[in-house]
Amino acid sequence: MDAARPGGSLLEAIGSTPLVRLRKLPAPDSAAVWVKLEYFNPTGSYKDRMALNMIESAEARGDLRPGMTVVEWTGGSTGSSLAMICAFKGYRLKVVTSDAFAREKIRTMQAFGAEVIIVPSDGGKITPDLFGRMAEQAKSLAQEENTFYTAQMGNPDNAAGYEPMGREIAAQLDGPVDLFCGAVGSAGMLMGAARGLRSRGSEARIIAFEPASAPFFSAGTAGPHRVEGIGLGYRVPLMDEALCPEVRPVEESAARATARRLAGEEGIFAGTSSGLNVAGALEIAGELGPGKTVVTVAVDSGLKYLSGDLFSPEAAQP
Ligand SMILES: Cc1ncc(COP(=O)(O)O)c(C=O)c1O
Repeated sequence: MDAARPGGSLLEAIGSTPLVRLRKLPAPDSAAVWVKLEYFNPTGSYKDRMALNMIESAEARGDLRPGMTVVEWTGGSTGSSLAMICAFKGYRLKVVTSDAFAREKIRTMQAFGAEVIIVPSDGGKITPDLFGRMAEQAKSLAQEENTFYTAQMGNPDNAAGYEPMGREIAAQLDGPVDLFCGAVGSAGMLMGAARGLRSRGSEARIIAFEPASAPFFSAGTAGPHRVEGIGLGYRVPLMDEALCPEVRPVEESAARATARRLAGEEGIFAGTSSGLNVAGALEIAGELGPGKTVVTVAVDSGLKYLSGDLFSPEAAQP
């Protein structure tokens, strides 16, 4: 047992999530598609992994000490995870977010006691300038005395927090992973989990996804979209193109339809970026064909999106 983590700690509930094989969505002649169910983490999102690692690595270095305030800008997933960990450890947290993101996430951060600063969006759309405005505000808060800025976008502890995920996947499957894929925001998950797989000898091809309406990596152009957490529209420092040379656009409509099919046909209740991950994985699985194994990630719980239109009855109509 880790001395810093006495038995019975809430933090032990982070990670070690199930990996399940899709039974109905893949076409008959396609590769097997496995999905890591990250909504089993305490806040219902894989971000618990990176928030824990950013906080505990900063503590270990002495950069974050008792009595300090943690600062971050976030769409609300990282913020919810940081808020849970700061509540548990007794740090104050100030987060900058926007009304472009799910109300559930803002309410979650507040429930954990975080101070939430909301930057107005352009009619609920996620645009590249919105991230710039959020980042500016977080940077100015980070100038205050006694604060620690987690700076997830460039923080290597973000990506390193996902290395256990890659090792878990390698241990959970009997055979090799042929391809590991997922959408990128900060790129922390994809890079970290890919490194975890490599550390277990995996030679899996790594493919990143982005919204087709914001094809920054695949076509060099940014654009508005409504897939929370991904498609930032600029070169994110954690993206390692040597590890992941291929980025594919995925239609947002396919992401939304796939999130609904995951719920209705597989019983997997996950959010929009999870739908995008699985939509992309299904396409690739069709190209690879039988006998191969594709792994992707259900990022977070569909519960975070219930007040939006992802699962509204109208959206479910064909
Ligand atoms: C809902 C959601 N999906 C996907 C991502 C992308 O994850 P990463 O930043 O590790 O690339 C994020 C990141 O904020 C997110 O909030």
